[in-house]
Amino acid sequence: MSKELTRRALLASAALGVAGTAAAQDAATKEADKVLVVGVSCSPRKGMTTATAMAAALEAAKGVDPRITTELIDLGGMKILGSDGNSSAQAVRETDDDFIKVLPLLDSPNLCAMIIGSPSYYRSMSSLCKAFLEKLAVFREPTMRLADMPIGALSVASNRNGGQELVIEQILMAMLSYGAVIVGGKGKGPLGATLWNAFDNDITRDELGMESARNLGIRVAEAALKYKG
Ligand SMILES: Cc1cc2nc3c(=O)[nH]c(=O)nc-3n(C[C@H](O)[C@H](O)[C@H](O)COP(=O)(O)O)c2cc1C
Repeated sequence: MSKELTRRALLASAALGVAGTAAAQDAATKEADKVLVVGVSCSPRKGMTTATAMAAALEAAKGVDPRITTELIDLGGMKILGSDGNSSAQAVRETDDDFIKVLPLLDSPNLCAMIIGSPSYYRSMSSLCKAFLEKLAVFREPTMRLADMPIGALSVASNRNGGQELVIEQILMAMLSYGAVIVGGKGKGPLGATLWNAFDNDITRDELGMESARNLGIRVAEAALKYKG
């Protein structure tokens, strides 16, 4: 190979290298730009009304801006234990239950907002939801990771006035302990998303409720973009 050919080959590969680095940087920037909104369904019944309503909220959130990405965590079927009295982050990490399965997603640097949903159980959040909220203590150390993060809430009940708003209030109050910024819905559902399981578990037939879920998703997504800055 002549000296000139070698030089050209070197230059070409160097150019490729620069382009490759630029592409990698571009991909990294795009990844860092993502605004992740996670919806957590806290019904023991996987894929049922709470999870379906949450999926609708997340779908609406995604439509707000191309940077928004969403993930649904369905705790249905998972074993999540409440606090044993030790609220240290280490104790939460070491508990032998399924929280460890969902922790990596919640730990994402792109996490900018959460929607937490629970069925109404005797006008209260489900025990699964309470256990999950207690697990979030893992984000209190070494710094208050959830501080200023927008959080919205959703609840489904089988009665029209079955405790949905009470459940939303309980979730949002608990999240204040983590320094979160609580976010409501829009229009007729200012507290959050309230759904009525009146159609044999087909929650999509509760049009008003589904609208409140979508409105909550939009509101939380808008707040997530502000949080990201
Ligand atoms: C233990 C238990 C308690 C419940 N308590 C209430 C209640 O207080 N008010 C109500 O309207 N529905 C109540 N329900 C009904 C659920 O809130 C309703 O079926 C909800 O849609 C279940 O959510 P899922 O489909 O995501 O599991 C209760 C259900 C169970 C299993």
